Amino acid sequence: MMTYTFIALVTLFTTSDASLLPPPVPAYRNLTADPVSVGHAVRNLQTTVDFYNGTLGLVLLEQTEWRNDSAYGQLTATTGASYRQAILAIPNQHWTLTLTEYQGLERAEVKQREQDPADPGLTLTVKNSTTINNVLSGINATTVNGEPVPAGGAAGTTSTVWVYDPDGYMVELVQRSNASDYFTVPEPTVTDGPGMTYVIRGQLDLTMENYTQALTFYHDILDFDIAPGFEPLIGPDEYQQVGFIGSVFNISSNTSWAAVTGNCDPVTRCEWYEYDDPDRVALIYPVQDIGVGLTYYAVQNLDAILNEVIAANLTIVTEGGSPVVVNGMRSILIRDPAGYLVMLEEEPATISL
Ligand SMILES: *[C@@H]1O[C@H](CO)[C@@H](O)[C@H](O)[C@H]1NC(C)=O
Ligand SMILES: *[C@@H]1O[C@H](CO)[C@@H](O)[C@H](O)[C@H]1NC(C)=O
Ligand SMILES: *[C@@H]1O[C@H](CO)[C@@H](O)[C@H](O)[C@H]1NC(C)=O
Ligand SMILES: *[C@@H]1O[C@H](CO)[C@@H](O)[C@H](O)[C@H]1NC(C)=O
Ligand SMILES: *[C@@H]1O[C@H](CO)[C@@H](O)[C@H](O)[C@H]1NC(C)=O
Ligand SMILES: *[C@@H]1O[C@H](CO)[C@@H](O)[C@H](O)[C@H]1NC(C)=O
Ligand SMILES: *[C@@H]1O[C@H](CO)[C@@H](O)[C@H](O)[C@H]1NC(C)=O
Ligand SMILES: *[C@@H]1O[C@H](CO)[C@@H](O)[C@H](O)[C@H]1NC(C)=O
Ligand SMILES: *[C@@H]1O[C@H](CO)[C@@H](O)[C@H](O)[C@H]1NC(C)=O
Ligand SMILES: *[C@@H]1O[C@H](CO)[C@@H](O)[C@H](O)[C@H]1NC(C)=O
Repeated sequence: MMTYTFIALVTLFTTSDASLLPPPVPAYRNLTADPVSVGHAVRNLQTTVDFYNGTLGLVLLEQTEWRNDSAYGQLTATTGASYRQAILAIPNQHWTLTLTEYQGLERAEVKQREQDPADPGLTLTVKNSTTINNVLSGINATTVNGEPVPAGGAAGTTSTVWVYDPDGYMVELVQRSNASDYFTVPEPTVTDGPGMTYVIRGQLDLTMENYTQALTFYHDILDFDIAPGFEPLIGPDEYQQVGFIGSVFNISSNTSWAAVTGNCDPVTRCEWYEYDDPDRVALIYPVQDIGVGLTYYAVQNLDAILNEVIAANLTIVTEGGSPVVVNGMRSILIRDPAGYLVMLEEEPATISL
């Protein structure tokens, strides 16, 4: 574990400042796909960097100036826009957080709700909920349920708060009660080192229209080690009422939900949910709209995956419908079956073979 972490950090810190996208080579290299970054479009890059770096204490790895890049414009269907990015490290994970601000084209502001298909959530495990909740109260962070930020829980209890970041993107900050509360990933290595003032691990969450869409794409096409159910809350292929958990998200307790959970890599827990709220609306927006999420995956055989994506009738966002070379990587932007944005990037090593 230590060795992997060390390799990952070296890779991140040696990324040249000409690189705009996350580091292409993940520490874990599975046969099909590995998460390399999770991100979203921001209203103002400095404001959001201040939140994740200044307030939450994540290490800022890289921040670019404004750029115009026609290949990137084609890739993301933002031709004519300029953009700038910041990349932050997530402690104990091999993937990063990528924030992107666009200018020169219209940007809508998206109201994110947990029940809506294609709504992402970034879960950050914290050392101490009392400390982080005090920090969040201090900046008047907006909670997802509209309640004031609560006081943190005692040591040895699970204590969670969901807030909106400056772009209305949902972030969970959770103190875990014990090792079993990490579900399918090991307890992280906790130090007082850089980036770990508060946050010690990340997790990736996403809402689907139907939980089976997580299986057809993330299991069947990207090959992640995931399965129906969210033990001990929901059994495989089972619908349950959300109950008290709904109050965290302002969802009625009688809403039924189902889930798919497991690992996107050996140390990354990933969770997908379906909420059968009659008022849900899919959050399908262009990449530049404020708060819109996007996850980047390094893949081993882009053409084979793309054939499966096409066979599944998924949407290809990239102009022209074919991979574009950006920073030496063959990349394409698609939507998963719920409409969430997914960047597939083929590593240079694969291309040169
Ligand atoms: C922000 O990131 C920098 C590295 O770019 C790091 O040195 C600094 O400690 C971080 N800020 C905070 C408040 O953690
Ligand atoms: C990008 O293009 C726009 C419009 O052509 C121009 O106004 C702007 O100066 C360019 N920015 C950069 C960083 O090259
Ligand atoms: C938070 O809200 C309180 C009460 O409205 C206000 O006094 C305080 O200045 C605000 N703090 C920040 C950082 O905005
Ligand atoms: C909670 O949901 C209701 C609709 O069910 C909505 O009117 C209200 O604005 C929501 N509250 C927050 C804090 O988003
Ligand atoms: C969190 O910090 C508070 C205040 O410093 C302390 O009383 C509490 O025991 C800590 N909780 C954990 C889980 O370490
Ligand atoms: C771990 O915490 C859970 C609640 O989050 C509790 O049910 C379980 O008994 C705890 N296990 C141990 C070994 O303390
Ligand atoms: C979810 O999809 C499955 C498989 O297509 C289907 O059998 C099931 O009825 C769907 N669930 C709902 C609530 O629509
Ligand atoms: C769930 O509860 C709400 C009130 O909170 C009610 O309006 C709605 O009809 C209930 N839905 C079901 C399926 O029972
Ligand atoms: C990825 O590969 C590693 C090393 O071969 C393996 O231990 C792990 O289970 C794989 N991860 C997934 C999510 O399949
Ligand atoms: C994709 O769309 C075609 C044409 O509409 C249809 O025949 C086919 O069944 C669809 N495939 C899937 C996997 O939905």
